[in-house]
Amino acid sequence: MTGEWVKVAAPATTSNIGAGFDVFGIALKEPYDIIEGRKTDSGIKITEVTGPGSDSIPLEPERNSVGIAAAEVLRRCKADFGLELKIKKGIRPCSGIGSSGASAAGGAYLAHILCGEKLSPTEVVLCAAKAEDSTSGGFHADNVAPCVLGGFTVIRSYEPFEVITIEPPKDLGVVVAMPDVLVPTRESRAVLPSEVPLKDMVYHLGNASSLVYAMMTGDLKLIGRSVKDVAIEPRRAHLVPHLKDAESEAMSHGALVSFLGGSGPCIISFYDKSSHNGDNIAASVKDLYSDRGMKCDTWVTECGSGCRRI
Ligand code: HSE
Repeated sequence: MTGEWVKVAAPATTSNIGAGFDVFGIALKEPYDIIEGRKTDSGIKITEVTGPGSDSIPLEPERNSVGIAAAEVLRRCKADFGLELKIKKGIRPCSGIGSSGASAAGGAYLAHILCGEKLSPTEVVLCAAKAEDSTSGGFHADNVAPCVLGGFTVIRSYEPFEVITIEPPKDLGVVVAMPDVLVPTRESRAVLPSEVPLKDMVYHLGNASSLVYAMMTGDLKLIGRSVKDVAIEPRRAHLVPHLKDAESEAMSHGALVSFLGGSGPCIISFYDKSSHNGDNIAASVKDLYSDRGMKCDTWVTECGSGCRRI
């Protein structure tokens, strides 16, 4: 038995966003992965992986984010069939914009469709988060939640799991700059401290709270002031060459704020679409890397929806 092919798009996401380590995430319009699948008699088989960085992605389903997440959906739905899967990466692995998260969320969402959409959106997120746990060295859902649900998401609690979705302001533009360096999430998490000082916690609490308020009220300047991180990015800065200079360059070309995307190396800049040009910000960061002998890809994008059938 083989069924009809179903295809889904799973977007890149930016997580942490200053003070919200493992809590905040935003779905981006671009780039995105495409996951295709169809029902088979039994088992999960990945028959094709293409796109940037695909040579580093294992085909074995139990080591592959798409395969692990899809298997979890089949298990929860007590499915009596298997899957054939094809993956077209639009997001290079080790990028800091949720490459493994997009694959995991796309795999879970696709399997959810093929199982007759029996799961709640939160259950789909949890199936994807299981894959993140296996492949990235820690259970975190701040990429898979926005990837499945879209918009700006807040993980209120991991146990019990609860996620809140907020519509980001329409004028919030996003520039993604990806320098040509690989930063595996597992390694980027390994450099983090297990404890943070009380004064850092207070600082993060203030900024995290005010970022949520600013997202809800559409106050772009307050968003710019609220994306602050004294606990995580400073520990990771050495993993991304020229990070601070790139952030300063983006700021001097009109960004509201510029910061490390997720576990890196992507540098994310927010800007006001109604008054500034994202292309100028993107070009300034690209030129800085080029002057220093490094390639840097850029996307001028915006907040977007979650996984969707295409
Ligand atoms: N919150 C996670 C981290 C995201 O910063 O490690 C990984 O992309």
